[in-house]
Amino acid sequence: MSDRTEHKEIYKLTAKTFHGLEKILSSELKKIGASEITILKRAVSFTGDLEVIYKANYLLRTAINVLWKIHTFKAKTSDELYLNVNKINWDKYLDLNETFSIDKTVYSTFHSHSHFAALKVKDAIVDYFNTKYNKRPSVNIKTPDKKIHLHIKGSECTISIDTSGDALFKRNYRKDTDVAPLNEILAAGMVMMTDYKDIEYFYDPMCGSGTILIEAARIFMKMPAQYSRKKFGFLKFANYNYRLWNSIKRNAEKEINREINIKIIGTDINEKIITIARKNISNAGLRHYINIQTKDFINSKFENKRGLIVTNPPYDIRIKSENINNLYKETGNTLKRGFKGWKAYIFSGNKEAVKNIGLKPEQKIILFNGKIECRLLKYEIY
Ligand SMILES: C[S@@+](CC[C@H](N)C(=O)[O-])C[C@H]1O[C@@H](n2cnc3c(N)ncnc32)[C@H](O)[C@@H]1O
Repeated sequence: MSDRTEHKEIYKLTAKTFHGLEKILSSELKKIGASEITILKRAVSFTGDLEVIYKANYLLRTAINVLWKIHTFKAKTSDELYLNVNKINWDKYLDLNETFSIDKTVYSTFHSHSHFAALKVKDAIVDYFNTKYNKRPSVNIKTPDKKIHLHIKGSECTISIDTSGDALFKRNYRKDTDVAPLNEILAAGMVMMTDYKDIEYFYDPMCGSGTILIEAARIFMKMPAQYSRKKFGFLKFANYNYRLWNSIKRNAEKEINREINIKIIGTDINEKIITIARKNISNAGLRHYINIQTKDFINSKFENKRGLIVTNPPYDIRIKSENINNLYKETGNTLKRGFKGWKAYIFSGNKEAVKNIGLKPEQKIILFNGKIECRLLKYEIY
């Protein structure tokens, strides 16, 4: 098949995300030309050609990974699972000399031992090659060439190949961290939920390693989410189309707006973390667009400016509660005194501490940071 027609094959795909970001992800998918978009739990399914797969990996800000569904079937026993996986034409998806790993998500009483189910899938793939070639591809859990995903819900089984490879929150700009950094996908999703039209300033007063600032800058500038990343799972696929991939990157580069009017600024009380943030910002190619400095937010002022704060104060439950309650109380007081006319979004996993802010939230959005239930609280400061 020629380059032109090859990428017109339509693939069944699923993008995974965090709880609470499904709607944003589905609107991102619409923008890149995906079809048959359906919101699921912590995922969105869709269809698209190679162009959609490449754009999904390069541009989506709220996807953890993009899976290509290669086979769906019913299996109530491990033998049925084995037989169905063994029947797949694995030559199409995996080379004898490549390594692979099996990821699993299992919600099923038929397959209550998810590890055993994954082992069956591995055996079925290995036996496929051994029977045909008397040779087999090896398993590599840490850095596989191909990541194969097993999803089971009841007796419904799906086998997919991960087109992303490493998870898409690994944007490749954050090399060092100190305090618990925010996941890049959550940071991007949060910024996308705010109203950032008509602002002069975007400010993260407790910026830590700079994740919110970097994701915000990329959103405002229309810079691809994966601008700093070189590796993707699909680069090793038999159907990889070099010309198509390069043209997608070139076109995305042309869309970047380096003349934005929003001033993006960050502060943190910890000097060491500001040094780390500076490095990350530079790795992200944003040195000229984000200004940061070491500063205590408490009792600071920024009056008479139209601005938006998005921040993630400490909410570590290990920190002594009276200190954390006081930090939230003083944060609320600082906002009231020094940030009149601003909007502020505070993201926290500490339900008790946020009560001390002393302002009534206009909006509460529930998001999950791993297993921790968090809230994104919106305040209008009068
Ligand atoms: C949960 S971390 C933020 C993580 C950040 N979103 C990231 O992705 O790396 C909270 C940050 O608040 C900072 N902080 C705590 N009290 C502060 C204060 N009074 N003024 C400014 N920053 C403060 C801490 O130093 C820490 O870096």
